[in-house]
Amino acid sequence: MILSIVVAMDEKRGIGYKNRLPWYLSSDLKRFKKLTMNHHVIMGRKTFESIGKVLPGRTMIIISRNKSFEAEGCLVAHSLEGAIALAQKEGEDEAFVIGGATIYRMALPRADRLYLTQVHAATKADVFFPEWDEGEWVEAQRIELPVDEKNQYPTTFRILNRK
Ligand SMILES: NC(=O)c1ccc[n+]([C@@H]2O[C@H](COP(=O)([O-])OP(=O)(O)OC[C@H]3O[C@@H](n4cnc5c(N)ncnc54)[C@H](OP(=O)(O)O)[C@@H]3O)[C@@H](O)[C@H]2O)c1
Repeated sequence: MILSIVVAMDEKRGIGYKNRLPWYLSSDLKRFKKLTMNHHVIMGRKTFESIGKVLPGRTMIIISRNKSFEAEGCLVAHSLEGAIALAQKEGEDEAFVIGGATIYRMALPRADRLYLTQVHAATKADVFFPEWDEGEWVEAQRIELPVDEKNQYPTTFRILNRK
């Protein structure tokens, strides 16, 4: 099973503010939906609260330390390893780690692929993607998108595979 990370980050690696995304990017939300549809998505409990619903067509695995945490229609794990094992057990071929910062930090060293949206702005953020070494990755795709009425900032969408 491939372990992939999906993340949108700004020029300072900012990814969130007050448990929300710091931007509105319609194209990125659509891309996220297309990428993750029919797959297992792994997230931290705070990201789940931020999304606020079960994403249709995806199996959501929420990571929490709280042994009594439950969310209707979702699977719960108590570690990243536990979440990966759940997806693997269900025959997943590509599982997507979708945040937030604490889960990205754990997943980055073992991720095989990065679906990265670079947001060309310095937004007000209070959570950040971990430092990462571009030299460990090979770019497989790069798409530049301009600002328009549905996309607040210009973005570059990249797919990076681990060397
Ligand atoms: N830009 C993007 O692409 C993107 C994507 C996703 C999220 N975000 C943003 O990121 C922010 C949320 O990120 P965050 O880092 O604050 O929270 P998070 O990673 O989503 O969730 C943190 C929670 O995960 C659980 N957890 C963390 N480490 C654990 C471990 N080792 N073992 C078991 N459980 C563990 C804990 O849940 P319990 O407290 O229940 O124990 C912890 O409170 C929001 O602003 C959101 O909008 C941005």
